[in-house]
Amino acid sequence: MKTVTVHASVQYDVLIEKGSLARCGALCANVFEPSKATAAVIADDNVAALYLEPVVQSLKQAGFSVCTFVFPHGEDSKSHEVLLHIYDFLIQNNITRSDFLVALGGGVTGDLVGFAAATYLRGIRFVQIPTTFLAAIDSSVGGKTAVNIPAGKNLIGAFHQPSLVVCDPDTFSTLTPEIFADGCAEMIKYAMIWSEEFLQLLESCDIQERLEEIVAYCVDIKRQVVEQDEHDTGIRMILNYGHTLGHAIEKVTNHAVSHGQGVAMGMVLITRLGMKLGRCDAALLHRLCSVLERYHLPFHYDGALSELAESCLHDKKRSGSTIRLILVSTAGKADILPMDTAELETILKGELPC
Ligand code: GLY
Repeated sequence: MKTVTVHASVQYDVLIEKGSLARCGALCANVFEPSKATAAVIADDNVAALYLEPVVQSLKQAGFSVCTFVFPHGEDSKSHEVLLHIYDFLIQNNITRSDFLVALGGGVTGDLVGFAAATYLRGIRFVQIPTTFLAAIDSSVGGKTAVNIPAGKNLIGAFHQPSLVVCDPDTFSTLTPEIFADGCAEMIKYAMIWSEEFLQLLESCDIQERLEEIVAYCVDIKRQVVEQDEHDTGIRMILNYGHTLGHAIEKVTNHAVSHGQGVAMGMVLITRLGMKLGRCDAALLHRLCSVLERYHLPFHYDGALSELAESCLHDKKRSGSTIRLILVSTAGKADILPMDTAELETILKGELPC
């Protein structure tokens, strides 16, 4: 088993091992007292059909009382309506602060259950059991939790660190190739912003053979960033490399482009923008495109860049008339460049080098 220990406001372990989902009860028993805690396991209907039973059995076997809540899959469930149903479920099951929640699933579940945990009884502990590659290497670690409101995604949220993360890479085998590739975009992001050595590994190895190591590599990079800036006021912003333009692409395509595909194209566009500003060279762009291609991710956005400008101007990462761009100057090194939104608009309305 690989263990990454995150030293944030709460210290917790991220345990990574194939087969660990069916042993989650014993792993939770190292953190919570089974005779004193009920585990409230929450999953969407797709994930519940696959993994709820083994998780419940394992928790019961370890001596925990268990209750379960299942909600419809999809981003629409990351809403205050479903959140209120979760609060009702917790109240009906007499869940108190000595108990804990279990977020079993992908990013939607982790964010939603994490936010329920952050707010129910002013904060209750929770465990993340990510079942997608993307959730395993990104959203399950670092304590960002949120729900969506009509005005925008993740606009209501809280920082609330999990008490434990149990990642079983065997769960990735039930993902479609497209959903797995979404995680690959974040994996490549980590290499680009933090580690040339990791980029070399991704350029040469068969990641399917080394999933535990790859997840641990990504989580350890996220750990280093989050430990320096838990509340996202400084260096943590580099985790948004490719995301501002990526989100804009997702939005203007009405989500026909997935999150990972958007981030992939966003990383390419911001690299081209960096070239225009003289901050990186064509060799970096070529290297990025090659590695994206290796992981079946798109690197060419054929829509109008001017369309993206408007969406970027509404990005919540904007502060006043300044937007913080995340640029990679050389593989493994990211910088935060504050830019006036009007300047960004002008650049996006012009030509970018390719
Ligand atoms: N997903 C970016 C962050 O956790 O800051």
